[in-house]
Amino acid sequence: MPDPSADSLPPAELPKPGDSGLTRLAYLRQVLGASHAPPAGPPLAPALHPAEKALEESQRLLELFFAQSLDGFYFMMLDEPVRWDSSTDKEAVLEWVLEHQRMTRVNEAMAAQYGADPGQLIGLSPAQIFAHDLAHARRVWREFFDTGRVHVETEGRRLDGQPVWIEGDYICLYAPDGRIIGHFGIQRDITARRRHDEEISRSREELRALAARLQSVREDERARISREVHDELGQALTGLRLDLSWLRGRLKDRPELAERVHSAVTRIDGTIDTVRRIATELRPSVLDHLGLLAAVEWQAQEFEKRTGMPVRLELSSAHPALDDARATTVFRILQESLTNVARHAGASHVHIALALGPEVVTLTVADDGRGISDAERTSLRSLGLVGIRERAIACGGECTIEGRAGQGTTVHARIPLGEGETP
Ligand SMILES: Nc1ncnc2c1ncn2[C@@H]1O[C@H](COP(=O)(O)OP(=O)(O)OP(=O)(O)O)[C@@H](O)[C@H]1O
Ligand SMILES: [Mg+2]
Repeated sequence: MPDPSADSLPPAELPKPGDSGLTRLAYLRQVLGASHAPPAGPPLAPALHPAEKALEESQRLLELFFAQSLDGFYFMMLDEPVRWDSSTDKEAVLEWVLEHQRMTRVNEAMAAQYGADPGQLIGLSPAQIFAHDLAHARRVWREFFDTGRVHVETEGRRLDGQPVWIEGDYICLYAPDGRIIGHFGIQRDITARRRHDEEISRSREELRALAARLQSVREDERARISREVHDELGQALTGLRLDLSWLRGRLKDRPELAERVHSAVTRIDGTIDTVRRIATELRPSVLDHLGLLAAVEWQAQEFEKRTGMPVRLELSSAHPALDDARATTVFRILQESLTNVARHAGASHVHIALALGPEVVTLTVADDGRGISDAERTSLRSLGLVGIRERAIACGGECTIEGRAGQGTTVHARIPLGEGETP
């Protein structure tokens, strides 16, 4: 128990398990200040000076903390101090340091991270601990000595060869003349977290790939159905119309029948229009035949006609031919953005800017409506917006959606035209 007498220095407060690494560091710094005390010797005489008592207490707490910490702690000291400044041949020093720095103290938690007893780690050098990846060790050590401290995640090896992911803070120890004498580290085993993160990012990638595949299958299917509806159904109706017109010409003396046939022709005309509209909605042929710029222009006119909202259109092209996947992506983003403007914005103007640059295509759709809120932007139910972003990502690009209350919403997509894969 600490000596409660009034003349003893207050011992540093022992960090609790779960306290941050920084709290522990601060503690360690505090108690390290007293570490020049002689090593624990035989029991001290009862007439101890109060300052010595305080040192003894600090020492004892440090030991306790070191032994009981849930984080791994260790000290690694150099066989000889090294100079590390502009006059140093850093490559040569690094090589020496990797071989001539040794674990001198290790707590149980640290040893457990390597599946070892503390005794098995004592004496090991960085070259031995990082034998599986010396290049990484050199990189980290160089930065470490340059800055005096690092925070890194490293893939280490347990003594049985199994990989272990370690996150740690490492701090250099210096001699009074500025030379480095060693370092100490505080580190945690984060293997489970890394595995978890990797699983999440793998499953996210799988979902992305699946979404991209579904989109491209859907586009192919829409294009096929659109063609069939337009060609097969359109031609059949046109043929029917021609036959009926011919028949009508032969019914001059049967006006009531001629009238019936005329009404059938009119209905067929209406059906042909419907077929064209359905085919165009499925896949605008202008996109395939005249390209993205013409399709965007056409879509803007359609939007104006349908909503009565004026559209300001800004088109520029330095890249005549765009591949089908990217053209479709940009066009579908435009369609979804315009549908949203019509449905949600309450806007009075829309501005569409499409720039086909040599390396990137950018599309901006800005309205002057109520402005999408952050909650709407990030909601998991905003699947239209998720679709916009995913389409852009599937082409190696990105899409941002921004809203300012009362001032409008801007959708900005940026698709690179590199050699990258397209869905
Ligand atoms: N231009 C806009 N101005 C204001 N609010 C918008 C705008 N675009 C989207 N929003 C808001 O964001 C929400 C999500 O849009 P999103 O396109 O994801 O879904 P949706 O249009 O409601 O349904 P759908 O799945 O049919 O597209 C909308 O419900 C609307 O509240
Ligand atoms: Mg929508």
